Amino acid sequence: MQQPLRIGIAGLGTVAKGVLDILSTQRDLLTLRAGRPLEVVAVASRRAKPDVDLYGAPFSTDVQTLVGNNRVDVLVELIGGVDTAADLVVGALSAHQHVVTANKALIAARGDELINLARKNNICLNFEASVAGGVPVISALARSLAANKVHWLAGIINGTSNFILTAMTNEGRAFEDVLAQAQQLGYAEADPTFDVEGIDAAHKLSILAAIAFDMNIRFDAVYTEGITAIRPEDLEYARELGYRIKHLGIARQTDQGVEMRVHPTLVPEDNMLAKADGVMNALLVNGDATGPTLYYGAGAGERPTASAVVADLIDIARGNQSVARPGHGRPQMLNISDIVSAYYLRIPSLDRSGVFAKVATILSNNGISIEAVIQRERAAKKVDDQTRVPIIILTHEVAESVLDAALMEVQKLPEVYDTIARIRVEHLT
Ligand SMILES: NC(=O)c1ccc[n+]([C@@H]2O[C@H](COP(=O)([O-])OP(=O)(O)OC[C@H]3O[C@@H](n4cnc5c(N)ncnc54)[C@H](OP(=O)(O)O)[C@@H]3O)[C@@H](O)[C@H]2O)c1
Repeated sequence: MQQPLRIGIAGLGTVAKGVLDILSTQRDLLTLRAGRPLEVVAVASRRAKPDVDLYGAPFSTDVQTLVGNNRVDVLVELIGGVDTAADLVVGALSAHQHVVTANKALIAARGDELINLARKNNICLNFEASVAGGVPVISALARSLAANKVHWLAGIINGTSNFILTAMTNEGRAFEDVLAQAQQLGYAEADPTFDVEGIDAAHKLSILAAIAFDMNIRFDAVYTEGITAIRPEDLEYARELGYRIKHLGIARQTDQGVEMRVHPTLVPEDNMLAKADGVMNALLVNGDATGPTLYYGAGAGERPTASAVVADLIDIARGNQSVARPGHGRPQMLNISDIVSAYYLRIPSLDRSGVFAKVATILSNNGISIEAVIQRERAAKKVDDQTRVPIIILTHEVAESVLDAALMEVQKLPEVYDTIARIRVEHLT
């Protein structure tokens, strides 16, 4: 029998529990696949949890006991956050211990430095679970699609926002109402900012883009917009126009540079991303040789996430190198005003004759053409003796800077009584 791979786990939360369970319940199968036993020799977290089965592994309340411990070959970092996690991971890599982590915030913030340190010490730093949980998107990009130049990738990479938008779409409910339900169900944190403001998705997008485009991890360059301003009526109008609104992370490589953005997006209803509902994740990757390929599944949760962590451990036990390589480029990063997109516009307008003509003239003068319009009498509301009817417009593709200039003019029309809502439209072909 070969020497076991000796594992130390830092953290004793959701993912750690799943890892302990899979390593124990699938012991024989994993030994066969890895070519040697995967043995948990230590677990450490800031407090003990007597209800969690450690399957006989010794426990410590000091996570630092794992670092440089010559009985631990691999440190599995599952505490989350950036600072303490970075200290642990740097310590382990410096002590020539392999590291597996599920921590996207850490990889987005310090990934380049950590990957370089692992390379320098000729050891592994694996982080498959950091993006899309159980869906193997990192190894797909880094290994299976390695023959491709990736033109773009786009995906739903935050299950909480997808759950909220799906419920708003299907049930016509307001954002705050669905968020409260998501918190009750455990899909959203007590402080949901990272999920609903798109920060978590931006962490993940920066990791995916770095691998897809062979560049450094540039979380700082991701344009990020959350879902808090989406109204049920936007979801309804989008549906009427043949679209769904999804919260997407999009990374694209063009001759001008690389764009990375996270924002609500109208997606045609027959696109596969439009059909990924609830807490599911879905990622489309468009490679030059493969064309579009789709990855779909559970992006979080105890066992899906643990599945990716254990796969990373098996890879190390087999003696494989990490799939993530140091990024070698700092390409030109495009600003959001540089992108070209189609747009959905909801213009809060008073119901007066000639308003639409004024709006259409301003758009036309700026070279923006209109694909579709909705202005419904039944959406009319009377406020202070004035009737309000939103004008809904779908534009053809235009540079964002041009749209911005046109919208500044439209916003100044006396009939426009509130801020214009704008959502980008992507056809993803
Ligand atoms: N949950 C998912 O579905 C999922 C999916 C993909 C990736 N991830 C990532 O996986 C990692 C772990 O997530 P999780 O959901 O398992 O988190 P969790 O349930 O909150 O567990 C974190 C564990 O680490 C401990 N801990 C936190 N800070 C610590 C510190 N400074 N020192 C020592 N121990 C500390 C916590 O102790 P206490 O029990 O005392 O709080 C807890 O046992 C995170 O990076 C997360 O982003 C999670």
